[in-house]
Amino acid sequence: NGASLVDAHRRRIDYLRISITDRCNLRCVYCMPDGAVTFIPHREILRYEEILRLVRVAVELGIRKVRITGGEPFVRKNFLYLCSRVAAMPGLEDVSVTTNGLLLEAYAQGLFDAGVRRINVSLDTLQRDRYARITGVDAFDRVWAGILRAHEVGHFPIKINVVAMKGVNDDEVEALAGLTRNYPFHVRFIEFMPFRPDAFHERFLSSDAILDRLQAVGPLQPARPENGNGPARYYQYPGAPGKVGVISPVSHHFCPTCNRLRVTAEGRLRTCLFSSEETDLRALLRSGASDAKLASAILEATARKPKRHHMDEAVTRKCIGRPMSAIGG
Ligand code: GTP
Ligand code: 5AD
Ligand code: SF4
Repeated sequence: NGASLVDAHRRRIDYLRISITDRCNLRCVYCMPDGAVTFIPHREILRYEEILRLVRVAVELGIRKVRITGGEPFVRKNFLYLCSRVAAMPGLEDVSVTTNGLLLEAYAQGLFDAGVRRINVSLDTLQRDRYARITGVDAFDRVWAGILRAHEVGHFPIKINVVAMKGVNDDEVEALAGLTRNYPFHVRFIEFMPFRPDAFHERFLSSDAILDRLQAVGPLQPARPENGNGPARYYQYPGAPGKVGVISPVSHHFCPTCNRLRVTAEGRLRTCLFSSEETDLRALLRSGASDAKLASAILEATARKPKRHHMDEAVTRKCIGRPMSAIGG
């Protein structure tokens, strides 16, 4: 059908990111709140049937691409079942998963069999002890093995997400980008975003600063965008099998081309990562609302999608208000 979601700023929305859990088997310093983490109780998390119904309605409205994220999606029971049902949904052209890779070695084959063809894996360092310091778990070797296994079983196009932070992993920018010379992996540096009230200004490293450093190592040329739907810009070392990408939510406004909606683990529709406005789809799902009612709630929220984010204000307040793990990146 020809339905299409367009917002008040004429942006066509065809990409939905769904967080299926706020739980995670890591505790990344830039993501989880300090101290005891309180997770959302199970009954408040959307059930798989509810997620599938939302995806079906969203596809009828024009969504063509779905990314499943968390928290860490693999920690939720029967995750592969959900993947296979989403991947089989008529009308969807692209189903992808964002994971921290801890369970990838075990599940890579299952993921491929379920029909998922693209994965993004978070990995901020190539040093084992540093990995443990950033994430709280000594699992670098497992993640790396998972990435290799995923490559083996599916030849997935693998994107490695690196959150670049001054004084934490900035001395590894060259080594991480260098992976693209030896592997067909795409390494993307994400600007550190202020989700927590910690040292944002001391830690922040812009994409331009990273690109300058990488240019100094060798000629990095602008490259065609890598199969995907996100805001990354891509470059490549001549002859390298992989690409280097940068995602610049802080220094460059990609809002004018934003194509996405998000659903949080408790079923709230968020039209912007940085807006606190949410629409409670779970309440509708659990009160017997019809598909038409769900669809109109999605359309109305989309019409109110903010023109741009106001991260700068969030930066001065030093916090976004909700951990990234609960929003889903
Ligand atoms: P593909 O391009 O389809 O591979 O997806 P992606 O890059 O959007 O997915 P991924 O989950 O790997 O996202 C990487 C990171 O980019 C996110 O976690 C965010 O940090 C950042 N990002 C992605 N989309 C947005 C967005 O709409 N706004 C902001 N501010 N940051 C985003
Ligand atoms: N700033 C930038 N990226 C972040 N991520 C999590 N928290 C932040 C933050 N504060 C990244 C993860 C993962 C992606 C989904 O979001 O590293 O790759
Ligand atoms: Fe878990 Fe991802 Fe948050 Fe790290 S960034 S704690 S892997 S949800």
